[in-house]
Amino acid sequence: MRVAVAGGTGLVGSRVVDRLRARGDEVVVLARSVGVDIVADSGLSEALTGVEVVVDTTSVVAKTSQEYVDFFGTVARNLQKAAAAAGVHRIVTLSIVGIDGLGGGAFAHYDGKNAQERETESGTVPTAILRATQFHDFAAQLIDWVAKGPLMPCPKQPVQTVDVDVVADELVALAHEAASGGLASDRVRRDIAGPEKGVLADLVRAVAKARGRRLLVIPVWLPGEAAKKVRSGVLQAPAGAKIAGGTFDAWLARAYPKDADHLAT
Ligand SMILES: NC(=O)c1ccc[n+]([C@@H]2O[C@H](COP(=O)([O-])OP(=O)(O)OC[C@H]3O[C@@H](n4cnc5c(N)ncnc54)[C@H](OP(=O)(O)O)[C@@H]3O)[C@@H](O)[C@H]2O)c1
Repeated sequence: MRVAVAGGTGLVGSRVVDRLRARGDEVVVLARSVGVDIVADSGLSEALTGVEVVVDTTSVVAKTSQEYVDFFGTVARNLQKAAAAAGVHRIVTLSIVGIDGLGGGAFAHYDGKNAQERETESGTVPTAILRATQFHDFAAQLIDWVAKGPLMPCPKQPVQTVDVDVVADELVALAHEAASGGLASDRVRRDIAGPEKGVLADLVRAVAKARGRRLLVIPVWLPGEAAKKVRSGVLQAPAGAKIAGGTFDAWLARAYPKDADHLAT
């Protein structure tokens, strides 16, 4: 089958592309670096010619809630419009577990993802939303985004991180189910999570240590109702979620082997 992967050069998207190609699918990557800008709607309709399923794994790093809403909302709207015109059978979108109950304004990225879910499901093309918990990579990403010096504030947050490889597996499985007509309704939603509950600050400390970096991680208590819900565990696996993949420690050992160069610097 012919599948388009929006964000197919990214952390998740590149894994989806590799898996689809390994199964013999024809893959079209939608990313600015290959000449398709979904936000600007440039090159999109041509790229979707003959495509049966679109998998959306796009992302952005922005500052404000409005910037995230603009990005994810526009991506979802433009994909729906172009997919409808091209006769695409289904859009499979990657989202995040538990964000829909948080209300707006507290977590900028989640505001954007909620807008993406809404816009995706407002279109005429059938959808499947896969909500994943934070990836095992999330603590490392946080360090890269936030820790500019020896101290790092980190929200007090229970997590249940998942291996990005099994998220990619699940997106590919959904794309194939969609293409074979195996999805029961036009608005499918599924959740996926890793096997262990943990605390974000502990994962951040473990990554810093594995990188050989001295970092004082200071758990912080964020104010507000949304942060309270996060502390109560809404970002962990909900009832009915698929539990899959290896543990954070197994991922850490793979990502940061003990004899690697990063420890020598
Ligand atoms: N990190 C987590 O713990 C976690 C957990 C659950 C779900 N998620 C979700 O997973 C998704 C993917 O995350 P990721 O870390 O894989 O992202 P990523 O590595 O930052 O990749 C983002 C992709 O989006 C593409 N892109 C950005 N702007 C674009 C545009 N205007 N037009 C076309 N393509 C564009 C990028 O390619 P170009 O730069 O070449 O355009 C890139 O391929 C996100 O939506 C995130 O919310 C993340």
